[in-house]
Amino acid sequence: MVKCDFSNCGFAQKELEKTAMRLEDRFLKLRRCSQSTALSQSDDLFSLPARTDALEIAQHYASVHKDIDVLVVIGIGGSNLGAKAVIKALLGKFYHITSKKQILFAENCDPESAKAMKKVVENSIQEGKRVLVCAISKSGSTTETIANLEIILQTLSVQGVNPKDHVLVITDKGSKLDLLSKSSGFDVIYSPESVGGRYSVFSTVGLVPLAIAGIDIKVLLEGALQSTKENLLCEAHSSPAAISAASIYLNAKSGRQTFNQFIFSPDMESCGKWYRQLLAESSGKEWNIDGSARINAGITPMVSIGTTDLHSIAQLYLAGPRNTYFRFISYDEKGEHLTIPDMPHFEPLVQNIQGRETQDISDAILGGVQAAFAEAGLPFQQIRLKAKSPKSLGWLFQFQMAEVVLLCELLGVNPYDQPNVESYKQQTRKLLSQGI
Ligand code: PA5
Repeated sequence: MVKCDFSNCGFAQKELEKTAMRLEDRFLKLRRCSQSTALSQSDDLFSLPARTDALEIAQHYASVHKDIDVLVVIGIGGSNLGAKAVIKALLGKFYHITSKKQILFAENCDPESAKAMKKVVENSIQEGKRVLVCAISKSGSTTETIANLEIILQTLSVQGVNPKDHVLVITDKGSKLDLLSKSSGFDVIYSPESVGGRYSVFSTVGLVPLAIAGIDIKVLLEGALQSTKENLLCEAHSSPAAISAASIYLNAKSGRQTFNQFIFSPDMESCGKWYRQLLAESSGKEWNIDGSARINAGITPMVSIGTTDLHSIAQLYLAGPRNTYFRFISYDEKGEHLTIPDMPHFEPLVQNIQGRETQDISDAILGGVQAAFAEAGLPFQQIRLKAKSPKSLGWLFQFQMAEVVLLCELLGVNPYDQPNVESYKQQTRKLLSQGI
């Protein structure tokens, strides 16, 4: 389903395996937790694809709300990036125009975005469209999320719509949002407390909005389960996730602390942004895991889109500082293949594209870039998905979560906390309390 190739990563397979073997204890724990029946500790997140509870809840709400016309997903960071990534990747870059349901993501407090969202909701109701608001916040107290929820609730009320029938809340049990939602009569679904936002795509946090948006979440989870088998239910030295973690770690140790995912699919840009949060928040730590030493660790994630960004940033990569390790992600196109029309009078402009499939051209550019990178001594790994499908994405996301947790083990940091995100949230509350 997915092919991973580390032959150009800058390190010999033996060295990668040796480094992966250092992960043996952590690896055994992840393997055990991937088969856990409880969700009592953070590592249990790897068992989410094998569970049916969140799947059933998500399918239930998808069936209750199957006739909606507009879905507004309110949430930020770990609470919306996973669903957003899968929706955009599978429904395509033009999903606003092409998909049957209109899907909006309300995530920050930018005044113009908030006004635009309000307007869309107002217009939709006035046009008789059925609107569902899915508000997601584990803590239930994230400034942007609560502000957006309030704006939409007021908009619904002003339009004469009872919010009770149009709002679905996903939050941790006992959060202030849980209590408020219950007293307001909203449907509340719980997020698993032990699973952090950025690792929650296969829990209710990701599955509920995805199912309502019409994504085949059963197949997504099948892909993730397959990934568990191939990445965790094996030996560390033969796990692509462990080998990849080793390659990122060794490159970072050699001065390449930036990890750039070059994704040859504009539809998958949000998958890159989901991973950016995953890697940045998990690896970026001031202190080592037991708090005994200040280490200021971290890998800087970047996202580039092929072929577009070759025309903006490739010059820097090829000629500039040797501080980046790359991952190329691409996929085999399924279904009908689009062909460039055969127009001989265009041949002098660009040769050898007349009558060729777009996939061939994209692959030729990908091959060309990789050859140029290899020639320039730039290290990279390669992931090729069999298709841009729910199954492949499920595989990729589970692989990437395992990879990041294992990488954090090598870096000696806690993959699951984000103490400094909390510090900025507290400062924001302080400023707001001072009337700013
Ligand atoms: O990964 C994280 O913990 C953060 O990005 C959170 O997901 C984000 O801040 C949103 O938090 P909450 O779900 O509590 O609203």
